[in-house]
Amino acid sequence: MFLLAHLSDPHLGPIPTPPLRELLNKRGLGLINWYRKRHRHHRADVLDAIVADMHAQQPGHIAVTGDLVNISLPAEFARAARWLEQVGTPADVTLVPGNHDAYIRRAAGSAAQHWGDYMRGDDGALFPFVRRRGPVAMIGLTTSLPTGPFMATGRLGDDQLARLGEILGRLSHEPVFRVVLIHHPPIPSHGHYMKRLIDAPKLRALLGKHGAELLLHGHNHEQQLLWLDGPKGHIPAVGVPSASAIISRHDEPAAYNLYRISGEPGAWTCEMVVRDLRAGHTGITELMRRPLIG
Ligand SMILES: [Fe+2]
Repeated sequence: MFLLAHLSDPHLGPIPTPPLRELLNKRGLGLINWYRKRHRHHRADVLDAIVADMHAQQPGHIAVTGDLVNISLPAEFARAARWLEQVGTPADVTLVPGNHDAYIRRAAGSAAQHWGDYMRGDDGALFPFVRRRGPVAMIGLTTSLPTGPFMATGRLGDDQLARLGEILGRLSHEPVFRVVLIHHPPIPSHGHYMKRLIDAPKLRALLGKHGAELLLHGHNHEQQLLWLDGPKGHIPAVGVPSASAIISRHDEPAAYNLYRISGEPGAWTCEMVVRDLRAGHTGITELMRRPLIG
């Protein structure tokens, strides 16, 4: 049995005080948003509890699906790099970036610069990349690109989609459990037009043609389970809440998911375990477990 853990959207705070010149762009709006509401909803002690509980489960690998920072300030990237080191080594942790990790055009290369060792394939390739751990082949995608004010959209781009098709097709002939890691969900939620993955239909078409065993995403800060069409049945696509979210009416409380993966092609089994922060409970506890595959 291989145990894969998934957490997302830690939105590490507080935002360091930037020079005014750093705020004369979308960052200014982001900072206002942070102090109006976000800073109250993301807490370091909650994130620490999530990571400690996850480490106690001794996962074979950890997937992190983006939004480590908030407005892409240089000091945020450096702090997030230190946080990643606490989560695990680049060999034990695979990261894909989110929209907040490329908040403005000037910061577009910062994630690769600071966290590159966590975002490379076994062969050193950048997106899309492949990392193999036990029976699992993780395929890392980036949807992270600078957008205008009030926008949180993502895009894979035709080049990345073409290479993703080749990778999924090639891996479909190997005895591996394919896990696609992506920040944006593959189907936008109702009312999330400004937050959507623009080329999600093309991604779903590729998955429908070549298949994958599992897709993990973040972005919406909520528990989500969708079933995508695959060539031999449905593919589970699972989202997690922010790993630093307090209990509030704003977002779902912090959680992470575990996947217990066994078997072989045609006979895979995968059980999902959700562990979260909940009123009336001490620390992080199991919310539910359910078979996803098999
Ligand atoms: Fe996001």
